[in-house]
Amino acid sequence: MKNTVLTFRQAKEKGEKLTMLTAYDYSTAKLLDEAGVNSILVGDSLGNVILGYEDTISVTMEDMIHHGAAVARGAENALVIIDMPFMSYQTSVYDAVVNAGRLMKEGRAGAVKLEGGQEVCPQIQAIVAAGIPVCAHLGLTPQSIHAFGGHRVQGRTEEAARKLLKDARAVEEAGAFAVVLECVPEKLANLVTESVKIPTIGIGAGNGCDGQVLVYQDMLGMFSDFTPKFVRRYAELGEEMKEAFRAYIADVESGAFPSEEHSYQIDDDIIEKLY
Ligand code: KIV
Repeated sequence: MKNTVLTFRQAKEKGEKLTMLTAYDYSTAKLLDEAGVNSILVGDSLGNVILGYEDTISVTMEDMIHHGAAVARGAENALVIIDMPFMSYQTSVYDAVVNAGRLMKEGRAGAVKLEGGQEVCPQIQAIVAAGIPVCAHLGLTPQSIHAFGGHRVQGRTEEAARKLLKDARAVEEAGAFAVVLECVPEKLANLVTESVKIPTIGIGAGNGCDGQVLVYQDMLGMFSDFTPKFVRRYAELGEEMKEAFRAYIADVESGAFPSEEHSYQIDDDIIEKLY
């Protein structure tokens, strides 16, 4: 069944958990879709896990459209959410609407995601008014990593916790259909979840959120540059891939691959005429 923003609303009403994972290409999107995930996030974590940047700052609109469109082609039932990259919406409400529109038209997104609270509410309102669903993102928002001074849990002081709660209510009021909570203490995430009608999607925000999201390379053991505390490894595909690559190298070097079953044949008569 096709997942939409209505699926998100109904899941919260019924108390059913929502599942979200990232993808950046067609074949992974297809696998996630066939597995039955509610939503695929084309995150700007693309910058880290696909493009090899140390943060998400350099990711461009063209990157997001290119990878988003590939994911959209592979996702039949999952709601595809494409991240708005750094400086594609912070600069003005106009830029935000134009760029959200490009992610829908060229990237074939079902919704867009942007980072921030009250300060980006005018952008959320305008994008939603243009008929584009918006998922908000609060807590550790990676595009502000330089302002935070590193990867730190957010909302730990009373002031910061109050601000996070206020921001969650503000993005809901502005029209966001869901909000990602990243690296937030569990009890604060629970309070936010109780305080808003839109679903909260946690990543490092404990078990009380309405749904969960992970970067798929993290959960499959395919990315070793940095593993946050909140990641559970569901497989060690990185190791399995390396073993397979080594086996291929050994087979090519020894001549064991390709064998006859992997080769194409031609009549000997034809070959003889060529000598
Ligand atoms: O870019 C991303 O993958 C994200 C998730 C970590 C929520 O924003």
